[in-house]
Amino acid sequence: MMEKILLKTEAADIEAYIKAGGYQALRKALAMKSEDVTAEVKKSNLRGRGGAGFPTGLKWSFIPKANTKPRYLVCNADESEPGTFKDRELILKNPHLLIEGLAIASYAIGAKQCYIYIRGEFAKETGLLSDCVNEASKRGYLGNNILSSGFDLNIAVHRGAGAYICGEETALLESIEGKRGLPRLKPPFPAVVGLFGCPTVINNVETLASVPAIIEKGGDWYSKLGAGKSAGTKLFSVSGPVKKPGVYEIELGMPFKKFLEDYAGGMLEGSKLKAVIPGGSSVPVLTAAEALKMNLDYESVQQAGSMLGSGGIIILDDKACMVETLLVLAKFYHHESCGQCTPCREGGGWIEKLLRKLEAGKGKEGDIALIYSIAENMLARTLCPLGDALAMPVMSFITKFRPEFEAHAAGNGCGKREAGSGKSTQ
Ligand SMILES: Cc1cc2nc3c(=O)[nH]c(=O)nc-3n(C[C@H](O)[C@H](O)[C@H](O)COP(=O)(O)O)c2cc1C
Repeated sequence: MMEKILLKTEAADIEAYIKAGGYQALRKALAMKSEDVTAEVKKSNLRGRGGAGFPTGLKWSFIPKANTKPRYLVCNADESEPGTFKDRELILKNPHLLIEGLAIASYAIGAKQCYIYIRGEFAKETGLLSDCVNEASKRGYLGNNILSSGFDLNIAVHRGAGAYICGEETALLESIEGKRGLPRLKPPFPAVVGLFGCPTVINNVETLASVPAIIEKGGDWYSKLGAGKSAGTKLFSVSGPVKKPGVYEIELGMPFKKFLEDYAGGMLEGSKLKAVIPGGSSVPVLTAAEALKMNLDYESVQQAGSMLGSGGIIILDDKACMVETLLVLAKFYHHESCGQCTPCREGGGWIEKLLRKLEAGKGKEGDIALIYSIAENMLARTLCPLGDALAMPVMSFITKFRPEFEAHAAGNGCGKREAGSGKSTQ
């Protein structure tokens, strides 16, 4: 039986959530020592669901014990990566599960103030979360002396202004502080010098919403779900020419082929699988053959040559032009670069310009190698991984679909656009 944790109940209403057993894990956590709560999360092998897959309990334990400054928990609800729309679904369907997770995590790290940094475009979700925070406060699950435990917690919902870079954790902290969202140089890491110069833990929505079940049923129980080092369940958002695009919760380790057939409903009639971007648009693309052999867990996707990332699966079919697709991505990452690092600021612009030429049938053979070498020179040479987020798709698209790029350079494009017009014929 496939276990469900995150989308088990769909209760935006607090009464329904409580009736389904909600807020009992918080009660249990508050009766435990805070370090035991962290130990349970460590035992669970829960890994961050924001993209990097960093062990959550370990991250919490980096908060220096001797530091007497205030501590903060920040929930990353910025979710702006193309192809990723799972946190939004979780917030809409199960907002109190997130709030309960925030309360437990705050207690574990000793934070009395928590921020939810939410993507600017998520107006409905912002309103819903603010209402839910008020409801939870009225019933004594937030505020002062929560459930008579002596623990106080305030949650603020902070709405961003629509910048992708503000999902990067240190740019996010700058933004909450009222400054422009520019990533910080690390170290120091946020666990030591974070929000307002104080120790801070930043976790993704889905990561934090996984915590109540771990406290309720135990870290051992959670660690046995999924596949080895990829423990637990995970949300995958799937988009593209499939019959049932959407958000699905599965145990990690499911074969991608099964996910595509049983959950996403298979390819649309007349569409043939050509490529898969498995973890949000910033990870390397896989060919259909590579994707159909892999399982959906951190290790398997890495073995297949990509990354599980945020779990935003983008499906491409035989009608997709890889040059055009890469141009769309390049345009996005170039536009969203904060401009601090030269390789990302300039490289993104060059790549977009050259791809635009290629796609319009005005490119030449040497452009392909040039685009590749610009990407190579961006990789791992920037303050934050936004530069890599463009470099990795560029290098993998060119490596795996080179004949399509060559055909465009030779003026025999995919026929989607009239050569030289830059306008779609479809
Ligand atoms: C450009 C960029 C954008 C990011 N956007 C998000 C985002 O929208 N949501 C998110 O949770 N993490 C995002 N991340 C990752 C965060 O920096 C951070 O690793 C994450 O929030 C940590 O949470 P986790 O340990 O629970 O995964 C982004 C990273 C980069 C470099």
